[in-house]
Amino acid sequence: QAQAIILGIETSCDETAAAVVMRDESGHGTIRSNVIRSQLDEHAAFGGVVPELAARAHVEWLDHIIAQAIDEAGIALEDVDAIAATAGPGLIGGVLVGLTTAKALAASLGKRLIAVNHLEGHALTARLTDGVAFPYLMLLVSGGHSQFVLVRGVGDYERWGGTIDDALGEAFDKVAKLLSLGPPGGPAVEQAAKMGDPRRFKFPRPLLREERLDFSFSGLKTAVRLQAEALAPLTDQDVADIAASFQDTVAAIVETRSRQALDRFSRAFPGQEMRLVVAGGVAANRRIAAALENLCREAGAQLVVPPIVLCTDNGAMVAWAGAERLALGAESDLDVAARPRWPL
Ligand code: KG4
Ligand code: ZN
Repeated sequence: QAQAIILGIETSCDETAAAVVMRDESGHGTIRSNVIRSQLDEHAAFGGVVPELAARAHVEWLDHIIAQAIDEAGIALEDVDAIAATAGPGLIGGVLVGLTTAKALAASLGKRLIAVNHLEGHALTARLTDGVAFPYLMLLVSGGHSQFVLVRGVGDYERWGGTIDDALGEAFDKVAKLLSLGPPGGPAVEQAAKMGDPRRFKFPRPLLREERLDFSFSGLKTAVRLQAEALAPLTDQDVADIAASFQDTVAAIVETRSRQALDRFSRAFPGQEMRLVVAGGVAANRRIAAALENLCREAGAQLVVPPIVLCTDNGAMVAWAGAERLALGAESDLDVAARPRWPL
């Protein structure tokens, strides 16, 4: 396989991102640049991402972000071999901005276009950062997704469970909101929890006794809300104790589910080293990461948590997924459609 230079474009949520990644003959990847512009400020006043505002900000910024990514990589646009862009799942307005830009660049430069599934970008990142071999188990925990995916190969995925209501990051964001913390919610809850007593409140752990790999966080969120209402007005200590109790409950849920998922992995691949790869913004949470480190140590599994800028949405993961697909001869037509929903 020849060396390839890929431009990756990510616009499916509230990050406008572009990156240049190089894949060498042996399949080893190098990030040449990774530029991300977060829209946190645009959406702050609305308590959540406003799709129309997001799409407009992508339109305004994407060209600059791409130019910067090319510049920081020390190459010219003509040097790229292919352009990869997220084609879904995500907010359709934003996805269209990125995908249409990628199509225009591919057409005008005469380069290949590769439409990338955003979730595949998350799933393959650990191969870029750590060269992880197939098969492995991925736990994706972000603002939009909470799921286990068995990654057998490029394009060969099996969903082993997901959330039946809120995503984990979403649960953090909602709990933050009702405690008047953040945005961003997740880091604010983690920060508040540092001062809190995690044993003060006992919150429910839905589904935990069932032998299924699904998550459910809405009952937990409701319990947190009822507790907050019962105590109102909340002191700083109340807020810290609720945050800590919530976070510990979540960590226990994630740890238990991950243990079950690793069990299933070892049954599916007897004798194969177990590997757990974590992706998504919630991977930044130290309490949850510690629970997973503990679990993997006990279970004898390898735990891979890529650097946090590559766990959250970014262009490098899209470029890398494009590179892996390109190496297998994949290419998308210029009329490939954006897909707001697109399961792996
Ligand atoms: O992957 P990501 O950047 O965006 C997508 O949703 O795709 O994930 C963002 C989510 C948010 O819900 C945020 O609250 C959560 O990740 N998050 C955290 C932490 N940092 C970010 N949740 C808990 N603890 C954190 N330290
Ligand atoms: Zn994502």
